[in-house]
Amino acid sequence: MFRDRYCGELREADIGSNLSLAGWVFRRRDHGGLIFIDLRDRSGITQVVFSPEVSTDAHRPAHDLRAEFVISVSGEVKHRPEGTENPNLLTGKIELYADRLTVLNEASPLPFTMEEAAEASESLRLKHRYLDLRRPELQQNIIVRHKSAKAIRDYLDSRGFLEIETPILTKSTPEGARDYLVPSRLNPGHFYALPQSPQLFKQILMISGLERYFQIVKCFRDEDLRADRQPEFTQVDIEMSFIDREDVIRLIEEMMRLLFKSVLSIDIQTPFPRLSFKESMERFGNDKPDTRFGIELKEMADLAEKGQFKVFLDALKSGGRVKAINGKGMAGLSRKEIDDLTQDAISFGAKGLAWIKVKDGFESPIAKFFSEEALRQMAERLGAEEGDLMLFVADREKVVHDVLSRMRLELGKRLNLIQHGYNFVWILDFPLLEWDEEEGRFQAMHHPFTSPMDEDIEKLFTMDISSPELLTSHFSLLTSIRAKAYDIVLNGNEIGGGSIRIHRQDIQNRMFELLGISDEAAREKFGFLLDALEYGAPPHGGIALGLDRIVMLMVGAASIRDVIAFPKTQKASCLMSGAPSAVEQKQLRELHIKTTDIVT
Ligand code: AMO
Ligand code: AMP
Repeated sequence: MFRDRYCGELREADIGSNLSLAGWVFRRRDHGGLIFIDLRDRSGITQVVFSPEVSTDAHRPAHDLRAEFVISVSGEVKHRPEGTENPNLLTGKIELYADRLTVLNEASPLPFTMEEAAEASESLRLKHRYLDLRRPELQQNIIVRHKSAKAIRDYLDSRGFLEIETPILTKSTPEGARDYLVPSRLNPGHFYALPQSPQLFKQILMISGLERYFQIVKCFRDEDLRADRQPEFTQVDIEMSFIDREDVIRLIEEMMRLLFKSVLSIDIQTPFPRLSFKESMERFGNDKPDTRFGIELKEMADLAEKGQFKVFLDALKSGGRVKAINGKGMAGLSRKEIDDLTQDAISFGAKGLAWIKVKDGFESPIAKFFSEEALRQMAERLGAEEGDLMLFVADREKVVHDVLSRMRLELGKRLNLIQHGYNFVWILDFPLLEWDEEEGRFQAMHHPFTSPMDEDIEKLFTMDISSPELLTSHFSLLTSIRAKAYDIVLNGNEIGGGSIRIHRQDIQNRMFELLGISDEAAREKFGFLLDALEYGAPPHGGIALGLDRIVMLMVGAASIRDVIAFPKTQKASCLMSGAPSAVEQKQLRELHIKTTDIVT
């Protein structure tokens, strides 16, 4: 028998019993006479002592044990001698005196030690992910992930949801990212797309009368990666029939409450606060506000207009905005430090960063352009007091919001304002459409199956949009149409999004028209959904939550890579398995594929 107990579970109550443990050699201290081993398995660590007085048979080979050898030991559990107890370990009061040692397997010298693994380069850790995953922190993350998925599954089951699988080899779904394509051997020149989400299938399931669907499912998006994005990630995907926005919101709030309670024993307050998209943009500069701290963006246009600073006036004249934030207590910054802040702003897309110190009055190269009264009003609006630094950006609205929202986060970190906690917020009333400057056309802000607000449906049908010119002539009317879409945000991270869908075919067709998707293109891409909408589609809607992101926030990890067993790098490769890789010419021939850029 390898073991009869786990390393992490022994306590004072076990003192006196004889038992076996198995696991890996974590640390080894050889004092010549006594040899100490920290023996580790998934549950934790027990100190094992090899003493020649207890057993020479066990003691002799213990000299040869090295890090990560796999062993099994037996012996008596004893109280640690006074003064050698370890209060940081749950097993810190006891140790096991080995009278048997079996080496089950040896280990080569490690590319990094387990103790220093957290400091080893990430690429080295990912290459040897099997070792990296032995780290207790990562194992804890994987355990929290498992418990979270289970809590979510149990909750949705208890609420009448059916877990239904949808295809992985499928057609392109329009979530706005690039598709991963899979060539079809049996259909030369044809490709499957891996799902960016099961969006169309879950809607079809509603039309099929399955009423309540969920799936914990892999989704694939070929996009540029960041700390919170992976090319394959996991959604908790949900869809329900005969419901409205409030039903989805209530369902998810309750799910989050139970999830945090059951996995982290934390009570979170429901209902969650709500912000309209517009209010979120105005106050925080983005639609995923970190509401754990202030430093809100303030309107400065009216006060800028009272002065003569050309940068501000020009921005306003060309339809732009002037907004500002308050750097609390930052008036002491040197010129050099302010230049660095300005460089940050420029790297975020600004043309510059105007600043005014509140320091014995107002100190700034631009103070001369404003009356004392206007400066005082600026300070008042920003809540800026003696010792503060007011920071301004003037530009197109998008740039002002982008830059100030990022400056706000920088300042939040720098000034240590971000309180520990879990701040959820719903973002509601998104615009239905957003203008895509690169492509010169409207895009669906969420996706093309999202329903407009009932009161805005009229607008859709009354305007003449039969030509691209007419479409742009209705610009402000079109951008004023709101969608029945919602996002859920946790500590500045978008952890989920969804909408009430269009269930009427005439509205769906009109939506495609607005998006410049021709009838043929719509039929070719989503014909099966359009057909299905003709045969009695119930009102329906849903949401998808990013499981990786939620777990990342629950465990306080810096990256979603830390909560995924086998993640990919920024270049979307798996350093352990070596995917993606070149394939044999024969395989390509069978798939009817010729490559032009052969990379070795
Ligand atoms: P959406 O595109 O907003 O909606 O995705 C839902 C949630 O999935 C997470 N997510 C990601 N997580 C890690 N890496 C990625 N690359 C990544 N992309 C998205 C986010 C996001 O909020 N079909 C719709 C949902 C619906 O309408 O019901 C959808 O996929 O947390
Ligand atoms: P300039 O007149 O270009 O020397 O700029 C004077 C100050 O205004 C400098 O601090 C610049 O960083 C800042 N500035 C320049 N352009 C902008 C802008 N678009 N928004 C805010 N500040 C700006």
